[in-house]
Amino acid sequence: MTSIKIIGAGSIGNHLAHAARVKGWGVLLTDMDHEALRRTKEEIYPQRYSEWDAEIQLANSKDTVTETADVVFIGTPPDSHLALAQEVLDNAPPRVLIIEKPLCGPDLVGCAEIWEKAEESGVFLGVGYNHALGANTRAMDELIAEEPRGMPQTLSAKTREHWGGIFKAHPWLSGPEDSYLGFSSRGGGACGEHSHAINIWQHFAHTLGAGKVQEVTAVLDMRRDGNAYYDQLAILGLRTEQGLVGEVIQDVVTAPTEKMARIQWSKSFAEWHVNYKSGADAVIRGEGSGTPQIALFEKTRADDFILEIEHLEQVLKGTITDSPISLQRGLDTMMVIAAAFRSAKEKRNININWSAGYRLEALQ
Ligand SMILES: NC(=O)c1ccc[n+]([C@@H]2O[C@H](COP(=O)([O-])OP(=O)(O)OC[C@H]3O[C@@H](n4cnc5c(N)ncnc54)[C@H](O)[C@@H]3O)[C@@H](O)[C@H]2O)c1
Repeated sequence: MTSIKIIGAGSIGNHLAHAARVKGWGVLLTDMDHEALRRTKEEIYPQRYSEWDAEIQLANSKDTVTETADVVFIGTPPDSHLALAQEVLDNAPPRVLIIEKPLCGPDLVGCAEIWEKAEESGVFLGVGYNHALGANTRAMDELIAEEPRGMPQTLSAKTREHWGGIFKAHPWLSGPEDSYLGFSSRGGGACGEHSHAINIWQHFAHTLGAGKVQEVTAVLDMRRDGNAYYDQLAILGLRTEQGLVGEVIQDVVTAPTEKMARIQWSKSFAEWHVNYKSGADAVIRGEGSGTPQIALFEKTRADDFILEIEHLEQVLKGTITDSPISLQRGLDTMMVIAAAFRSAKEKRNININWSAGYRLEALQ
């Protein structure tokens, strides 16, 4: 039986525990906070999935540092991710180690080190940008591959979502200053928390052969709320190595939610939507003044994570060579996040020198 150890029994830890159980995996769910373990068993899991699953083992994460599994999943706040990843690789390396997004705060502390360690460890490392695994994403990738349309005119992506939904899923938090969410420096705020849009922009740029993001210009709307200090809106202008120019918008204020990406070629377009309508993602393609074609992909929230577990099954089998959730893709997204903060602070265009590694010195 495939085994998974999950560090962090919060919202994402519960999602992954459930998805792994659906696929018949053995689950060890851990947290450093006893109250989080109680809440998992008595509240989060039964409220989401109708009843607690007694096959799930719960433990204090400090007592299970040397316990390994086929897959280890880090689902804690961003500013704890990379130290925990190092601890896992030092004490009990699994075959696969998945770290939640964003990898860290915009200071990039620990990025160069984890990249080096991953190379020498032989462990597959990935980052939880799971929208990149969706059926709608696969359909967009196929659409891009199926007929040569050349380099598009532009590429856009948005994750515009009021964070009320996140707080609803965390009723034990009283507001942004109660968690990393209210601190951009800790990986919260719009740029970090909603970085799925930056990541999917990079994913489609990759599929299109447009290369890595070379230039970043950003405007961030920074807000102070009690002790919290975060970007509530992030607008990024991006240019890739091959000259593709487009934008990413992420915010924690828009309702209803808008999660989409759009590729505009000279004569046609393709749109990627998350929750296009209740219970379905979508891909829309159109040409000239013709009626656009809409393909729907039915799914539940739980399916997002079941797909992620199925992807990890393929990784364990060795059948995946270029995973859309590889560590490299997650680090590439961190570099754009860090460049956005530098650009907004210094009010100038930032160039990313990829040969300088995953460190602040690469931002010029
Ligand atoms: N991919 C997705 O769709 C998705 C969805 C939700 C959350 N996330 C990401 O998952 C991460 C966690 O978010 P969440 O909403 O689950 O947070 P959460 O606050 O609900 O849970 C985090 C848990 O981690 C525990 N924790 C903190 N530091 C720890 C440590 N050093 N060792 C062990 N346990 C520790 C906390 O006690 C808490 O129970 C964030 O990075 C977030 O962005 C991703």
